[in-house]
Amino acid sequence: MKGIILAGGLGTRLHPLTRITNKHLLPVYDKPMIYYPIRMLINAGIDDIMIITGGTNSGDFLRLLGNGKEFGLSHLHYGYQEGEGGIADALKLCEDFVGRDKMVVALGDNIIEKNIKAFAAEFKKQKKGAKIILKQVDNPKEYGIAEVRGCKITGIIEKPKRPKSDLAVIGVYFYPNEVFNIIKKLKPSKRGELEITDVNNAFLKKGQLTYNILDGWWKDSGESKDALLETNVFVKEHGANHV
Ligand code: DAU
Repeated sequence: MKGIILAGGLGTRLHPLTRITNKHLLPVYDKPMIYYPIRMLINAGIDDIMIITGGTNSGDFLRLLGNGKEFGLSHLHYGYQEGEGGIADALKLCEDFVGRDKMVVALGDNIIEKNIKAFAAEFKKQKKGAKIILKQVDNPKEYGIAEVRGCKITGIIEKPKRPKSDLAVIGVYFYPNEVFNIIKKLKPSKRGELEITDVNNAFLKKGQLTYNILDGWWKDSGESKDALLETNVFVKEHGANHV
């Protein structure tokens, strides 16, 4: 299974912190933000990884990470997203890298406490479709929110004004390579982006979307300056990516 980390976008919500660098290079306690999703994938047994960056600072990823030696990797793949066309637009760039394989896609600013190894193992056995991970939150208007009935998801709404549940779709997604055909048919949303929520809803429509509930804490560290600060404190106090 391939691993993908999406670290493009302009990070405007964090200006002026992100005016001269990419959001994913900012510190989260004692490491650059991008270290956490890399470690999360490696802990789940995924060592063939592609990082999508963007903007004017993409060269800094290469200077920081090189071939991934610090993580025990022999190589890392890099891709460059022009503009800020959305999460699904960034994922599109990984089609050749993934080939016929399955993939785990991680948003570069999402940090979790525990290991996703068990979810990855379950997904490897899943015959069709995709898997997402849900986590209960206090501020559901900020995320993709899933409505769940029994063991089935009935719909996902991106940043709903009137959330029907408090179950956020976290930024770790499991997809088959068919995801690239779905992305090709997507239309930009009102905010001009190819939305990952539309991708997940396409799998849902086909009855091919499973989910797990995340155990342990999860932070979207790039959501706001306060979230970034909170994540720094959380990582210092509780640690991240426990095996
Ligand atoms: O954090 C989880 C949430 O992430 C989900 O609940 C939402 O459904 C999902 O849409 C996403 O929402 P955000 O508004 O937080 O996404 P954001 O624009 O912050 O992008 C998340 C990451 O995706 C970011 O760290 C970099 C990457 N990205 C984003 C965009 C817009 C790219 O690589 N390229 C892009 O064009």
